[in-house]
Amino acid sequence: MYTIEAEHLTKFYGSARGVVDLSFTVERGEIVGFLGPNGSGKTTTMRMLTCFFPPTSGTARICGHDIVREPLAVRRAIGYLPESVPLYLDMPVRSYLHFFAEVKGVPSRQRRQRVEETMQRCGLEQYAHRLIRKLSKGYRQRVGIAQALLGDPEVLILDEPTIGLDPRQIIEIRNLIKELGSSRTVILSTHILPEVSMTCTRVMIIHEGRLIAIDTPDNLMRRIQQTPRILLRAHGPEHELIRTLAALPNVRSVQRTSTGAAALDYYQIDTEPDGQVMSEIARVVVEAGWQLQELRPLDITLEQIFIQLITDEQTGPRPC
Ligand SMILES: Nc1ncnc2c1ncn2[C@@H]1O[C@H](COP(=O)(O)OP(=O)(O)OP(=O)(O)O)[C@@H](O)[C@H]1O
Ligand SMILES: [Mg+2]
Repeated sequence: MYTIEAEHLTKFYGSARGVVDLSFTVERGEIVGFLGPNGSGKTTTMRMLTCFFPPTSGTARICGHDIVREPLAVRRAIGYLPESVPLYLDMPVRSYLHFFAEVKGVPSRQRRQRVEETMQRCGLEQYAHRLIRKLSKGYRQRVGIAQALLGDPEVLILDEPTIGLDPRQIIEIRNLIKELGSSRTVILSTHILPEVSMTCTRVMIIHEGRLIAIDTPDNLMRRIQQTPRILLRAHGPEHELIRTLAALPNVRSVQRTSTGAAALDYYQIDTEPDGQVMSEIARVVVEAGWQLQELRPLDITLEQIFIQLITDEQTGPRPC
């Protein structure tokens, strides 16, 4: 049995599209990332899965319970970190978690132990007495995650768990999520690409309310990075530079990037997969005396991924 099974999940806000026809399954022990730009439908999907509101059509089962017919059982199976965590700022961390343990129905005999364990798990012990108001954003986020964990849920649904955190906190929260994922099922949302490759076992890419890809991060990157792209900054006669580089084996195309005066000496070079042309480009540029200033692989952006996947959807995947 799958932990999560969504069948044709669809949500319209009046006539406005939330998400359309999402079907997917998630197995126990997976960490699945919903990846999509603003407004693509990540929060809408999570709100349906957590029974915040019902779907317009379609349904989903969480641990075998239907989100439309059995919302109470679904809520018991789920811990949810909403997009903005509504914390009670004037409560100290420990009291706040005790309060929520009670709300979540943790039996009073187990409550103390559960709260202490959860605080320890989320690295909150040293802040047990601190008012939530006085915590940094990252630690507030940890309190939100602790709150989601209190009922010891099978499934954790985390809406942008690392948003607004500094790089150190992001790493800590990612590690925490990975650790949590080892014993339960986690769905998280993000619009940051590295987030999914670092944390998730599978990625669901949502674009304009529709699911356009679901796969492991490695497979997706392989599908997308069929044209590795290199950035070059060098001073040289434009036409000659482009002509020379374009003539190199494994170079598909060379373009001067045209995003304002500061970018005048930047070139974008598309290469064959596994072309290994970096050292050849460097050699040619240096030998010609074109003042090599920068040469590096260009990270693929989320936008490029969408463009690539949507193009693939329309034209069929390109041969490898
Ligand atoms: N309460 C609402 N009423 C009307 N439309 C809504 C409502 N909530 C969301 N939408 C619309 O549904 C679509 C999906 O929004 P959603 O919040 O699910 O996106 P998201 O992927 O979570 O975006 P973000 O990355 O900005 O959090 C958007 O077009 C949004 O405008
Ligand atoms: Mg959202």
